Amino acid sequence: MLTREEENKLVSDWTDAERNNLAKMHTKLMLGNAQKNLVKLIKQKSQEFAKKESVFLEELIDMFFQHITNNSISRKYYQYKYSFEWFRFFIEKLTAEKPYEDNLGYIFHKVSNIDKKNLGQSFTPNDLSKLISVLLNHSVTNIQTHRKFYEPTCGTGSLVLATVGDSDCQTAEVTINDLDLTLVKACYIQLALNQLINRKHKTLIIRAFNGDALTDFSKSHLVSQCFGEQPSDPEDFNFSSAA
Ligand SMILES: C[S@@+](CC[C@H](N)C(=O)[O-])C[C@H]1O[C@@H](n2cnc3c(N)ncnc32)[C@H](O)[C@@H]1O
Repeated sequence: MLTREEENKLVSDWTDAERNNLAKMHTKLMLGNAQKNLVKLIKQKSQEFAKKESVFLEELIDMFFQHITNNSISRKYYQYKYSFEWFRFFIEKLTAEKPYEDNLGYIFHKVSNIDKKNLGQSFTPNDLSKLISVLLNHSVTNIQTHRKFYEPTCGTGSLVLATVGDSDCQTAEVTINDLDLTLVKACYIQLALNQLINRKHKTLIIRAFNGDALTDFSKSHLVSQCFGEQPSDPEDFNFSSAA
């Protein structure tokens, strides 16, 4: 892992030309359809690095996941520092503009080799997720300060994002799982970023698993993290330390 100092250097050791380039690229990419522009950029950069687009997207997701859970990223990704910065910039912008929407789902559909046939990897459209979340949350009769959400086949998180985003509790405790490790990370990133940027809840607790929901996924615990104040009742909050 890079130390904090090294990680700061990711940006600070850039040349002026690199910085200007990034600023220009951000401006250009925010004009028009940001999601489509991001897809174009991932395709273009993967060609430059002679990588498969799907592999490059997986690595960008892994870098973002490491950044959110460890506040640092692996040394092996150092050569992609520039790409990571624009990817992060983009996803954060989209999260602010389209709160609790599955922005990464669109990118995965356009770039990745998602497995529709065997794993049923087609994600719920955002509008449908919003409708389902309103119906689900409407059926919660008592006002609850602490709610638990469980999504055993999360994909990139369309349904769980909409449901959590539409809920009115103070503390939301969300357990996510998927057979596909990269998708769990993508869902985790979007839940965490929404809490950090849009702050719908006082506290958001996320537990992420990567396993088979039909058998047992308790052995494949990826990470647990609390965003916001720790709940006062320890029984409400008894996760193991971050992986
Ligand atoms: C129909 S989607 C669910 C979509 C997601 N809930 C959403 O809101 O868009 C199927 C997802 O389930 C995952 N999956 C399929 N079989 C699974 C299993 N046995 N255990 C865990 N996840 C599974 C796939 O990897 C895929 O991401």
